Amino acid sequence: MSEPFLLVQLSDSHVGADWDGVDPAARLSAAVESVGRLDPGPGAVLISGDLVENAEDAEYEQLRELLEPLAVPVYVLPGNHDDRDALRRHFGVPGAPGEPVQYAADVGPLRLVAIDSTIPGEEPGELDSERLAWLDEELAAAPDRPTLLALHHPPLWTGVPAIDEIGLRVADRRALGDVVGRHPQVRRIVAGHVHRTVAADLAGRPVLAVPSTYIQLKLDFRDDELELTAEPPGFAVHALRDGELVSHVQPVT
Ligand SMILES: [Fe+2]
Ligand SMILES: [Fe+2]
Repeated sequence: MSEPFLLVQLSDSHVGADWDGVDPAARLSAAVESVGRLDPGPGAVLISGDLVENAEDAEYEQLRELLEPLAVPVYVLPGNHDDRDALRRHFGVPGAPGEPVQYAADVGPLRLVAIDSTIPGEEPGELDSERLAWLDEELAAAPDRPTLLALHHPPLWTGVPAIDEIGLRVADRRALGDVVGRHPQVRRIVAGHVHRTVAADLAGRPVLAVPSTYIQLKLDFRDDELELTAEPPGFAVHALRDGELVSHVQPVT
């Protein structure tokens, strides 16, 4: 039986942050060690935004050092705490200065399509018609490859008012659903930002938001202030074998 191809998804490492006195570097190191114990190891790693806290060069440099033990290709996309051009400088992602960071890449048997859901300087996300037109074209270019679509702000409603306040507007989620609906090869839509495991669907495709490697947000259907909680950090492992894709959420151990 053939081995699965693994794509690990880390998210929201927030290197440089100091929330409740917790060190994000130590937390990320523990996640990287946990990834290192996977057997087989991953073929690639995706980091779905909020890589660092303040978008400073020194933070991105520290992040790159912390990721070194992974020794596999690392794909990144921006979160609301990141800076598009800093990602270009430190991770060599394509595109002109200031433009959204988005690209498609063949990652083993998977096609990874990353779309930029950020509004520079703001917490909520957006998907404007230009970005969605780019996505439509990019998906049309490879209709037969199983595709994982990745972005920072998950296209879902969580029910936690404080989290939904900084999410993607309903109209943008629907517009994304219209594009995805035209491309059956999109097998999974994955995101971060909400610092929790949340599953939903969009245009009939599973949507999965994955935990932070740093600190989780509390599940509270009434609270309109973001609250941290001491739940364990985690990451996702997407495994593809013989055309079947499965996604695990693995607590850091
Ligand atoms: Fe975050
Ligand atoms: Fe975020």
